[in-house]
Amino acid sequence: MRGIFITFEGGEGAGKSTQIRRLAAVLESYGLSVALTREPGGTPLAEAIRGLILTHEAASEDGLTQALLFAAARRDHVLRVIRPALSAGHVVLCDRFADSTRAYQGGKVPDAVLEQVIALGADGLVPDLTFLLDVNPELGLERARSRFTGVEDTFERSNLAFHREVRRRFHAIAASEPHRFIIIDASQDEAYVAESIRLAVRQRILAAPGAGA
Ligand code: TYD
Repeated sequence: MRGIFITFEGGEGAGKSTQIRRLAAVLESYGLSVALTREPGGTPLAEAIRGLILTHEAASEDGLTQALLFAAARRDHVLRVIRPALSAGHVVLCDRFADSTRAYQGGKVPDAVLEQVIALGADGLVPDLTFLLDVNPELGLERARSRFTGVEDTFERSNLAFHREVRRRFHAIAASEPHRFIIIDASQDEAYVAESIRLAVRQRILAAPGAGA
């Protein structure tokens, strides 16, 4: 049986990494094998590219350069980690995927070019389900800064207008693919958000015909 590919998307400070870990624990308690991963990253090559993109010294302002780097990291991740895990029947939970490229690089690259770059990077792989953890950027950036561990990365440094634009793009992407997306109000408390996600996965994925649980 092919596994299930679930991605988590959203702006800074939306709580994706906390929620993804909580969902992994719940799915494991249902007896499913879960592979938890993130972008940019997930393989040694992709983690190295992550370092290049997110540190100030090496970062490029050019949207297409950024998109190509994210796509190169993603391709390695898809080929070496995500596809094999799906073939083995695992549930793959990924913190960010191609929709982040649409939301963050979208304004800076023509749509048709960006979609080509995304298709190559993702090797045509599209998530079965995507959670958009939605939070207004003021609150998100405040949360991200309160867990501040040293240096802000390239995108955390961007201004509020940019983060508002990212949020608008995520909403537009979700509206264009309503069957794939579930929008979660991530300003709610952590346990409430986790329960909304758990229920949605049960209804949308695990209850579907042919699903394992
Ligand atoms: P990360 O520390 O993983 O951020 P977060 O904790 O908010 O998920 O850093 C990833 C950053 O890279 C984040 O600001 C979003 C950005 N990004 C893109 O711009 N395009 C992409 O395709 C991906 C995957 C991430």
